[in-house]
Amino acid sequence: MAKERIGIMGGTLDPIHQGHLHIARAALESARLDKVLMLPSGAPPHKQDIVPAEDRWRMVCAACAQEERLIPCRAEIDRPGVIYTVDTLSILREDYPRADFFYIIGADTLMKLHHWRHYEQVLGMCTFLVCPRAWHHTPAEITAQRRCLTALGGRIVMLDMEPMDVSSTGVRQALAAGEPTPGLPVPVREYCGVKGLYGMTQRIPQAEDWLARLFAALSVKRFAHTLAVAHTARQLARTHQLNAYQAEVAGLLHDCAKCMPLKDMQALCRARALTEDKAVIESGNLLHSLAGACLAASDYGVTDPEVLRAIACHTTGKPGMSHLDMAVFLADKIEPTRADYPTLHQVRLLAQLSLEKAMLASLEGTDKYVRKGGKATHPSSLETIRWLRSLPEIAS
Ligand SMILES: [Fe+2]
Ligand SMILES: [Fe+2]
Repeated sequence: MAKERIGIMGGTLDPIHQGHLHIARAALESARLDKVLMLPSGAPPHKQDIVPAEDRWRMVCAACAQEERLIPCRAEIDRPGVIYTVDTLSILREDYPRADFFYIIGADTLMKLHHWRHYEQVLGMCTFLVCPRAWHHTPAEITAQRRCLTALGGRIVMLDMEPMDVSSTGVRQALAAGEPTPGLPVPVREYCGVKGLYGMTQRIPQAEDWLARLFAALSVKRFAHTLAVAHTARQLARTHQLNAYQAEVAGLLHDCAKCMPLKDMQALCRARALTEDKAVIESGNLLHSLAGACLAASDYGVTDPEVLRAIACHTTGKPGMSHLDMAVFLADKIEPTRADYPTLHQVRLLAQLSLEKAMLASLEGTDKYVRKGGKATHPSSLETIRWLRSLPEIAS
């Protein structure tokens, strides 16, 4: 059996950004790797003022949620005290006894590699994949360093790639200044804003507790989706002059029950008499909205009835639903990490213009899809479609 080829991308990842993802993807392709371990460091001795490891870990998980071959790895975070690359590689060797390791570094790091602890040993433990851009060194200096390390037994491969013009320092400065951050995945930007990292103003006072709970209760994909929904709900609220805080809170908690086993949701449903609708009780896809509103109140302490209602009707819709309900419903359907589906583009465009029209397009699209699959659309959705069609906003 061929040996597994595993890339390793370390660093503080403070925060992880598109440049990191771009380099990891390029390494996957050009070095024909099977996967890349994304390895945020614990508390590096030379950097005191970095964001706590668990926050950086959750952001790495959220950023990699859609990337099948980028695997977040806790090898350094879980080890107390100072950890050097030689230690990291030894730990990973225990987990992957037969793999070939490819350590991804920047050209600037290559120039300092001979200062690493036990660097000669490290040279024998992995191949180095070097991202070509260097801030402080000429190509001739880099070539000389490569020759030097190769003579000591090192395997140094320059990655054939165009680097992206994005840095963690630039991203942190933009966040602190409240500027756009196109180089940051949306779920990461949302995490920073909710919690108030990197000089941002914390938008959700309970963020510390909520983000930890949501991360523990949800799959990584669901966690990333949740952050993206909160971001989009907030944007829609701003576009349509709604309360952005309510929209963001509802977006953040809308799927808080989604990863519960169905039987637990049903037990909650019975205990709290949430519904007697059989179709809802038998489907986790529908029941998690009612269960979610219930948990948002009991476990997350939400008392705002408008927020709870938006969570409760985010799956089927409801005749008479408010604009806040619509913003959360739509954010769930159009958030930027959503995989493409037939009406996505249309609903995204309409959502900027009219919440009612976007709702109708979304529900009609779902109805068509459900019927095509030989199933029946839930009566609440059909009633909502009829109600929307009767509104003056739709006729205009
Ligand atoms: Fe949901
Ligand atoms: Fe959702």
